Amino acid sequence: MATPAGTTQKAWRVVRRGSPSQALKFQNDLPIPTPSPGSVLVKIQAAALNPVGYKLMKLLPNLIAGRPHVTEHDVAGVIANGNGTEFKEGDSVLGLVDNSKKQGALAQYAVIPAEGLVHIPPTLSLAQAAGLSLVGLTAVQGLVDILHIKAGQRIFINGGSSAVGALAIQIAKTEKCHVTTSCSGGKIEGVKSLGADEILDYTASPLWNQLSSATTPYQFDAIFDAVGTTALFTHSKAYLSPKGTYVSIVPEMNGVFGTLWGLFETSCRPTWLGGTPRTFKFFSMKPSKKNLQYLADLAREGKLTVPVDSEYAMEDTLKAYERLMTGHANGKVVVNITH
Ligand SMILES: NC(=O)c1ccc[n+]([C@@H]2O[C@H](COP(=O)([O-])OP(=O)(O)OC[C@H]3O[C@@H](n4cnc5c(N)ncnc54)[C@H](OP(=O)(O)O)[C@@H]3O)[C@@H](O)[C@H]2O)c1
Repeated sequence: MATPAGTTQKAWRVVRRGSPSQALKFQNDLPIPTPSPGSVLVKIQAAALNPVGYKLMKLLPNLIAGRPHVTEHDVAGVIANGNGTEFKEGDSVLGLVDNSKKQGALAQYAVIPAEGLVHIPPTLSLAQAAGLSLVGLTAVQGLVDILHIKAGQRIFINGGSSAVGALAIQIAKTEKCHVTTSCSGGKIEGVKSLGADEILDYTASPLWNQLSSATTPYQFDAIFDAVGTTALFTHSKAYLSPKGTYVSIVPEMNGVFGTLWGLFETSCRPTWLGGTPRTFKFFSMKPSKKNLQYLADLAREGKLTVPVDSEYAMEDTLKAYERLMTGHANGKVVVNITH
C-alpha cells in the first residue's frame, strides 16, 4: 500500500551549516505534504547522495540555504497519490526533489511535480533508478545539449569512474562517438565495461602531459570534465581541436587564491594576455523531463546502466555520507528508505 498510514514521516534534515555529522538531524515528526495541482505524492523507497549535498551543507550559511530542509534530491519510489496527473497510485517512478520547498530525498514522502518524474524502466534496480537523475541529467545536458556531440567525433571524458563520468561514457557511446577517458589503475576494467575506447590512468602522470606528449597526437572534438582539472583546459590547445569546446561541471577548489586563479584561467583570461585559445563552458544541471525520459529510454533499451557503489539503511545515512566524502566511490551511494 503506497498511501501513508499516518500524517507524519521520518526524514534527515539539514538544521545547521557543517559536515553531515554536524549538520544533519534524523527526525520522525515531519508532516507528510499534500500535493498541489500538477504534483504527486511519492512514497520514497531509495535516495541517492550527490557531492553537491554535503558541499552546500559545509559552505552555505543557514539563511541562503533556506534551512532547515530535508537533504538530497535523487529518488526512486512509488506514487502514493497521483492527484489526477498521468501517474496512478502504485506506479514506480524516479526523479528529483526540489529543496527550495523544504523537502528532500532523504524522507519517506515528497511532493514532486509530475513534470519531474518518469516511470522506472524494468532494467534498473531501485538503487540504480534512485541514482540516475542528477548525474544522468548532468551528462546528457553537457554532451547532447551543450556540446552537441555527433557520431564519429572523438570525445575526452575526464573522470570516467565518477558517477557523472560513467553516465557520460555510455551516452557518448550511444551517440556513436569515440571515447577516451581517465580513471585510476584499479578502476580501468569497470570503466572499460561501460564502453570506453581508451583509458588513461590519471595517477600515472598529469593528464595534460599524457595527452600532449602522445606519439599519435590527440585532437578531440570536445572535452567533458567531471573532475574539475584547470590544467587540462589551460594545456588543451595541444589536444582539443580549434573548434572544440571544453565543458566543465566542477570549478577546481584550491584554496581561495587558487580557486580564483582557476576561474580567471578558464573564464576570464583573454588570449592576448596568455589565455587558452579554446572555448570553455561551465554549467549546472537543470531538471528536464525530456532529458530524464531520454535516459530512462536508453536504460529500457539496455544501452545505459547506473553503477552502484554501496547501499545503506536510512538510519545509517551518516555512514553513507562518509563513503561519498572519501571521493573514491565507484558509482552511486544509495540510502534505502524504510517505512
Ligand atoms: N555542475 C553540475 O551540475 C554538477 C552535477 C553533478 C555533479 N557535479 C560535480 O561533479 C563531480 C563529480 O560528481 P560525481 O557524483 O560523479 O562524483 P563521484 O562519483 O563521487 O566521484 C568519485 C569518483 O571520481 C574519481 N576521481 C577523483 N579524482 C579524480 C581525478 N583527478 N581524475 C579522474 N577521476 C577522479 C574517483 O576515482 P578514484 O577513486 O580512482 O580517485 C571516484 O571514482 C563532483 O564534484 C560534483 O559535485 C556537478
